[in-house]
Amino acid sequence: VQSVSARLTFKFAVFWVILLGVLALGISLWFWKDLRHEAKRDLESLARSLSERLVDENRPASDLPTPGLRNDLAQFVKANGCRAEVRREDGTAIFDSPELASPAGTLVRESRMTLQGGGRVMVRITIDDRPYRARLYQLLRYFGVIAPVTTILALLFGFVFVRNTLSPIEEVRRKAEQISRANVSERIPEPKTEGEVRDLVRTFNEMLGRLERGIQDLENFAADAAHELRTPLAILRAELETALQENRSAEEDHEVLVSLQEEVARMSAIVTDLFTLAKLDMRQYALKKETFRLVPLLEEVLETWAPLAAERRIILRREGDDARVKGDPNALRRVFMNLVENALKYNREGGEVILAVRRIESKVHVEVNDTGVGISQQHLPGLFRRFYRGDKGRSRDDGGAGLGLAICKSFVEAHEGRIEATSELGQGTHIHVELPVG
Ligand SMILES: Nc1ncnc2c1ncn2[C@@H]1O[C@H](COP(=O)(O)OP(=O)(O)O)[C@@H](O)[C@H]1O
Ligand SMILES: [Mg+2]
Repeated sequence: VQSVSARLTFKFAVFWVILLGVLALGISLWFWKDLRHEAKRDLESLARSLSERLVDENRPASDLPTPGLRNDLAQFVKANGCRAEVRREDGTAIFDSPELASPAGTLVRESRMTLQGGGRVMVRITIDDRPYRARLYQLLRYFGVIAPVTTILALLFGFVFVRNTLSPIEEVRRKAEQISRANVSERIPEPKTEGEVRDLVRTFNEMLGRLERGIQDLENFAADAAHELRTPLAILRAELETALQENRSAEEDHEVLVSLQEEVARMSAIVTDLFTLAKLDMRQYALKKETFRLVPLLEEVLETWAPLAAERRIILRREGDDARVKGDPNALRRVFMNLVENALKYNREGGEVILAVRRIESKVHVEVNDTGVGISQQHLPGLFRRFYRGDKGRSRDDGGAGLGLAICKSFVEAHEGRIEATSELGQGTHIHVELPVG
């Protein structure tokens, strides 16, 4: 921040100096032009008043000057500090005052006039331009004082101004430095004034919110995973303890083994699901990018679930035309296997499950609609969360740990697709999957 404010202040000062320079140059040039103009006017008025003194003379040029005229002209020269010359046509002087000692320069005006008494004369006025220059130099001296003073002021003001402007950013930085995993729920107070800094703070706080949620999800995930594995492990232990008791028949041992096998299978399924999710999270799941037809894949899924549907007298069918999608067939098969399984599992006896495929522009939409128990509005937002289960008590018998939809979501999102759910309690659920067209 220090260097930014220094740089900004420096730029501000440089800008000021350039501005001042241009201004000073412009004003000086303009002023100088005015001064020249004024000098010319002065010269003209002197010439005019000299001519007025001559015009009344009614003697011929050869008889001039009279003592009165000489006196008059000498006084005129003295009063105006100029040089005056009056010459006959042959160049001889009627009147000539001493030359001006002007190192800088002089301004001269020459004119001819006819005398009343006859004959023409040349009249020449010379003035010194030093008084005019002196006024210009005075102005330049003013600039000489104004420039450094205002530049210093500009530097000071610029520095304070820049520091004040940047201080909220410095505050954000300091606060950001303090935020770590332990206090990720803290937020940076928003500045009251609208503007870029407030936008920055807002964006930063939103990022913190996302991080917080991410961390929370991770923590919940770990806790849920541990919890989920603890139950089957406890059952395993209890069963093993029973099995190790003496005096047991082969039949009893077999029963225990079957039960153990079930628990191990359940745990194994959970661990496999967790592993799939972890690999998807780390983007290490090598998804293929093939173009394939969706309907054969869906038919396969329907065939797999047909026995369960028949058992529960649920009508399982497909609607719509075929469409090509781009992605990994195995991953998408798992997605639809999960969705249809849910649609059957959370359905009612004699219900319906319909798969509808539609292609709209560059997307393929697949809907899995059921006529089941539905999901309450308050639970919908958490539906795709890991280990989410609508009814914890009942689910253990059905075997689900609540990872199925989370895996669906991860797979679909890895395909740059979307998955959404709408539902009405007691009416049914619609899961809407959107995939890129192949
Ligand atoms: N089609 C559906 N109708 C009603 N509830 C559903 C449906 N699909 C999923 N659910 C609810 O969402 C929860 C999570 O589903 P899922 O992730 O597939 O886990 P699992 O099926 O393993 O329990 C289920 O426990 C269920 O309560
Ligand atoms: Mg499921």
